[in-house]
Amino acid sequence: MKEIVLETNLSKSVIRCGSGAFDAYAKKYAQGQIYIVTDSNVFAIYRHLLWETFGNSFPVTILPAGESSKTYNYLISILKDMLSAGMRRNCTVIAFGGGVVGDVAGLAASLYMRGVNLVQIPTTLLAQVDSSVGGKTAVDVNGVKNVIGTFYQPAEVIADPRFLQTLTARELRCGLGEIIKYGALDGGILNKLLNNCDSLYKWEFLEDVIYDCIRYKANVVAQDEREIEGKRKILNLGHTTGHAFELVYRKKSHGEFVLIGMYYELYIAVKRGICGGQYADEIKKLILRVIKKVPSYQDVESAARYALYDKKNLSDKVDLIVPKSIGESAEIEIEFDEYANLLRECADAL
Ligand code: NAD
Ligand code: GLY
Repeated sequence: MKEIVLETNLSKSVIRCGSGAFDAYAKKYAQGQIYIVTDSNVFAIYRHLLWETFGNSFPVTILPAGESSKTYNYLISILKDMLSAGMRRNCTVIAFGGGVVGDVAGLAASLYMRGVNLVQIPTTLLAQVDSSVGGKTAVDVNGVKNVIGTFYQPAEVIADPRFLQTLTARELRCGLGEIIKYGALDGGILNKLLNNCDSLYKWEFLEDVIYDCIRYKANVVAQDEREIEGKRKILNLGHTTGHAFELVYRKKSHGEFVLIGMYYELYIAVKRGICGGQYADEIKKLILRVIKKVPSYQDVESAARYALYDKKNLSDKVDLIVPKSIGESAEIEIEFDEYANLLRECADAL
């Protein structure tokens, strides 16, 4: 079990990761006033564990599983239920679930009585390596993702790989998408992935690499919590193009689109002379370990338009973070037509 401390100007998060973290660190919250937010799948699997740990009378909101629960209505219902349950300012909101639960519960914790204690207990691989750390909270509005939210750091994150054993292969792929993204940003993580590319789904490997990814993210967030100075932007590598394809083609999961986006962005980076072909091939090899085949998307015009209007994009060009060399990425701005043409070229080469 390992500990990472993430300190920003106004807050301090202690992140516990590794097997045994839940047993060692969750129970203490039963001594105080807690409010648990989880989802229907997670509650069905882990209700006995929650009862054993926190007693069987804690107040809880069980969201329907899936992204459709990341709404204003569910947020308000959590806040109203907290009030009805008599939650005081010194209560602790425990987000027990994947990224959806973490984002909505985090937002509720940041708003209730102007902010109460928040603990993230992420139960998906994606939530352990990414969403539970760094304090971004949000709900979607009118289909626009994450448009209402806050930066609100959890006091503690308990990332225990025991929860990953009940995930589907698809959910594991989703998390691996983000892990490979960290590999494209950090040489140590990349080497670990390349040296273990036959063991990507093995527990010992995942436990080890989860720690590396959290440590990397915590270090970035500590330098630029609010994505103001630009450093935190690098965490969006693969996401602009991936998210654009996600909006056009749907169907696949977020992590799969991150991998697809990364593949297309590698093509662009090589074509633009930013990234060497050999280095790009190493990352592509990892991507293909997880998704087997990268789709040859034809509607690149619509995808490019979404990329242009991505809420993270501040100019009239498409802004991308692309891999450059081991441990280095670059930010580039591309005219709409050139971006669409490069996406088409990549799709035609697939
Ligand atoms: P999710 O929360 O919807 O979980 C995926 C599925 O796995 C759900 O059906 C859930 O019920 C199920 N599940 C969760 N834990 C399980 C377990 N241990 N065993 C079996 N099933 C389990 O999705 P996610 O991939 O965890 O997170 C995606 C969300 O995270 C998106 O809304 C995304 O916008 C957000 N996100 C936020 C940040 C951030 O920094 N805040 C970063 C990345 C993603
Ligand atoms: N997932 C991107 C971020 O936390 O900034």
